[in-house]
Amino acid sequence: MEAVGPQERLLDRGATAVAHPNIALIKYWGKRDERLIIPYVDSLSMTLDVFPTTTTVRLSPGARADSVSLDGMPASGEPKRRVIAFLELIRELAGRAEPAVVDTRNTVPTGAGLASSASGFAALALAGAAAYGLDLDPTALSRLARRGSASASRSIFGSFAICHAGRGEGAAADLGSYAEPVPVPDFDPALVIALVNAGPKAVSSRAAMRRTVETSPLYQAWATSSKADLTDMRAALRGGDLEAVGEIAERNALGMHATMLAARPAVRYLSPATLAVLDSVLQLRADGVPAYATMDAGPNVKVLCHRADAARVAETVRGAAPGCSAVTARRGPGARLRPGAGQ
Ligand code: DP6
Repeated sequence: MEAVGPQERLLDRGATAVAHPNIALIKYWGKRDERLIIPYVDSLSMTLDVFPTTTTVRLSPGARADSVSLDGMPASGEPKRRVIAFLELIRELAGRAEPAVVDTRNTVPTGAGLASSASGFAALALAGAAAYGLDLDPTALSRLARRGSASASRSIFGSFAICHAGRGEGAAADLGSYAEPVPVPDFDPALVIALVNAGPKAVSSRAAMRRTVETSPLYQAWATSSKADLTDMRAALRGGDLEAVGEIAERNALGMHATMLAARPAVRYLSPATLAVLDSVLQLRADGVPAYATMDAGPNVKVLCHRADAARVAETVRGAAPGCSAVTARRGPGARLRPGAGQ
């Protein structure tokens, strides 16, 4: 094989990263800085072991512009704009200018309506930083991923992670808002994802949280109560207390949806099928099965339970609403570079 000089190696530079989605047990909802994507509140999540996103970033010095494909199709509109804005940020940090070719593959079932921006921007941050030669530690990587989607900062880490909202303004806020692991080695629950069949959401989470912050009279009250929820959640996780973790997660999520329902005009992601699944979760508890629900910016319900109860929980939620399917997840790994591939 011919020797490859440093210049050629640089021209060929690329990296592939894999990241998993996460589900917040204490939610992030609302930004205090829209440009830097600084959350109002701290959030805490569990990274899943299902639905990974795989992203390859390859530098393309001869190209005139970035090219982005999502699931094998050329990206367009808002998703493309967000990826390119993110590449601009990486190039600015790396002091580089070459365009890139980005290929992203999600494994979320089509039409599932599960947010893939967390796994997507975590994988893009890791692959992009590697491709452009940015040497970032996991904290700095989570800060970078946050600029794509605040929830993505948490997917840099496996298992449980907290995203700090940070303090101050501008550069100080940017520095203070990052994710880090919350080590709870003995807490290993199941999260049953109830996929409710529903059309595309009418309003993006980004627009919905902006409207909530600007118009909902309940927002500040929820943000304040969320601080107490986080303190309680940390204690419950430390104690490995599934029932306490579940109760806190459920009240935090319902509170977040209450802030949206009170926005003007209201944002309502919860469909009749969502409510039917929530009823089935209440029934499970009445029948002695500890199961607790959380919902994000969509109609799907994620049910936290003991691993030993996961099959029963999945069967119950499947029967709760027509067309409802269920996937059981556990805690999963943090974002990883795939050795060899794309490099
Ligand atoms: C309801 O992280 O997708 O899932 O920062 O605007 O990209 P942007 O929003 P995003 O919002 C996630 C909101 C949530 C709660 C959570 O994951 O904490």
